[in-house]
Amino acid sequence: MAASIASRFSVKSTLGIWKHMCRHLTQVSIAGLPSFVKIVEVGPRDGLQNEKTIVPTETKIEFVNRLSEAGLPVIEVTSFVSPKWVPQMADHTEVMEGIHRHEGVVYTVLTPNLKGFDAAMSAKANEVAIFGAASESFSKKNINCSIAESLQRFEEVTEAAKKHNIPVRGYVSCVLGCPYEKDVPPEKVADVAKSLYDMGCYEISLGDTIGVGTPRAMKNLISTVSRKVPVDKLAVHCHDTYGQALANIFAALQMGVSVVDSSVSGLGGCPYAKGASGNVSTEDVVYMMNGMAIKTGVNIHKLIEAGSFISNALGRKSGSKVSQATKSCL
Ligand code: HMG
Ligand code: MG
Repeated sequence: MAASIASRFSVKSTLGIWKHMCRHLTQVSIAGLPSFVKIVEVGPRDGLQNEKTIVPTETKIEFVNRLSEAGLPVIEVTSFVSPKWVPQMADHTEVMEGIHRHEGVVYTVLTPNLKGFDAAMSAKANEVAIFGAASESFSKKNINCSIAESLQRFEEVTEAAKKHNIPVRGYVSCVLGCPYEKDVPPEKVADVAKSLYDMGCYEISLGDTIGVGTPRAMKNLISTVSRKVPVDKLAVHCHDTYGQALANIFAALQMGVSVVDSSVSGLGGCPYAKGASGNVSTEDVVYMMNGMAIKTGVNIHKLIEAGSFISNALGRKSGSKVSQATKSCL
C-alpha cells in the first residue's frame, strides 16, 4: 500500500515537473550554449561490444531500426574488427544488410585498418570511424600496435575513403585518463587529434574511455585540443563510470562543442578498459538538451522505447535515469 502510494506520487510529481519545464522551454535558453546538438548513438556498437552473451543478429537489427525511428541522426551500427578479438561484432555484415535505412541517417561503423574498411564498403556503410588513443599502452591493448603504427594504418583507411567519397570520423581514446598509464597529458591528446584531422577526419571524438574526467579537466582538455583542431570539429564521448558524464558534456558545450556521443540505456564499455562502465545514456542527454531548449531532433518517447527494447532483450534494467524515472509518464 505504502509502496503504491509512493510510486503514484513519484509518477505524478515527475509529470508535473516535466510539464512545468516544457512551459518554459521556449522562453529560456542558456547563453553560450549551441542551439542544436548532434547526437551520435553508439549503443549498437560501443554498447553491445562489451556484452558477455552475444546478442542475436535479429535483435541488433530491430534495435537499430528502433533507433532510426527515434530520429537519431547518426547511428554507429557495428565494427569491422577481428572476430577473434571482439566476437560480439562478428555479424557486422548481416546487421548492416538487415537494417532498414532511413534517408538522411548516417550508419557508421568502426574500421581499424584497410581490411575492415574494405569489408565495411562491401556492407555499404555510409561512413566509417578509425579509432586511436592518446595512451601507448591502451593503443597496444586495444588495436595491438603503437600510436605511430596506428596512424599509418589510419592513413591507409583515409586514403581509401577519399577514393570512395566516404566521410571518416576519428576517435581518440583515454583523453582524460588511461586504465594502464593513469594520467594522459592534454597535449598528447591534441597531437593525436591533429594527426587524425590532418589526414582527413571531418570530426574528432574525444573519448573519456574510463569515465574519470571532471568538468574542470574536460574544459582544460577542450581548450588545449582546440588550439590544434577547430572546436566545431570536436565531439565528446563520455563514459559514466564515475557519474560525471552529464556534467562533463555540459562543460564541453560551454566550450563550444556541439556533438555528443551517447548510448541508449547507458549500455557500453570497452573490452580493453576494465572497469569502464557504460556510455552516458542517450535518454539522459536528450532530456538535458530538451530542458535547456537545445534541439536534437530526437523523439524522447521513441528513444525510451528503444532503450526498453534492448534492456528487455539483455534481461536487465535500463541504465538511463530518465527511463527509470519517467518511462510511464512522459
Ligand atoms: P592483429 O591481430 O594485430 O592484426 O589485430 P593482424 O593484422 O596481425 O591480423 C591478425 C588476424 O586478424 C588475421 O587473421 C587478419 O586477417 C585478421 P588470421 O590470418 O589470423 O585468420 N584481421 C581482421 N579480421 C577482421 N577484420 C579486420 C581485421 N584486421 C585483421 N579489420 C586488430 C589488429 C585491430 C584487427 C585487432 O586488434 C582488433 O580487431 N581489435 C579490436 C579493437 C576493438 O574493437 N576495440 C573496441 C572498440 S574501441 C572503443 O571501444 C573505444 C571507443 O568507444 C572510444 C572510447 O570510449 O574511448 C571507440
Ligand atoms: Mg567508448
